[in-house]
Amino acid sequence: MKILVIHGPNLNMLGKREPELYGDKTLVEIDTLVEKRARELEVEVLCFQSNSEGALIDFIQAQAPKADAIIINPGAFTHYSLSLRDALIVSDLPVIEVHLSNIYAREEWRHKSVIAPIARGQISGLGWRGYIAALEILAAEKA
Ligand code: DQA
Repeated sequence: MKILVIHGPNLNMLGKREPELYGDKTLVEIDTLVEKRARELEVEVLCFQSNSEGALIDFIQAQAPKADAIIINPGAFTHYSLSLRDALIVSDLPVIEVHLSNIYAREEWRHKSVIAPIARGQISGLGWRGYIAALEILAAEKA
């Protein structure tokens, strides 16, 4: 089983970026923890981050045919990127949406996700462990 783990804009700044909201781990540290858990679960992961909507869509189009599921934190694209939403639909893969912070406890405009209606589910507010939970759920489903 192969899972794409996709991070959207500004998530490359984790560690420095508002640690009270997003935690103090860097993206490299989070990806390393995800890769370690994936090895334990005997699933393959491919992690990718971009600040560009087009690069995220290109990655999904190129990699989805070779993958079984997607875990994505779309960053601020969560709230308005219909082209990212469409790319996820076209992938025809189960999608789990992850947010480090609880988007429902923040500004009103963050309460709406255009991704959530096409996702299998959403994990919001549980920090980096949200990615691990998503991975465990997908691995358990394949077993
Ligand atoms: C985020 C929440 C978004 O509203 C924000 O724009 C982000 C990070 C999160 O992980 O909590 O970039 O997706």
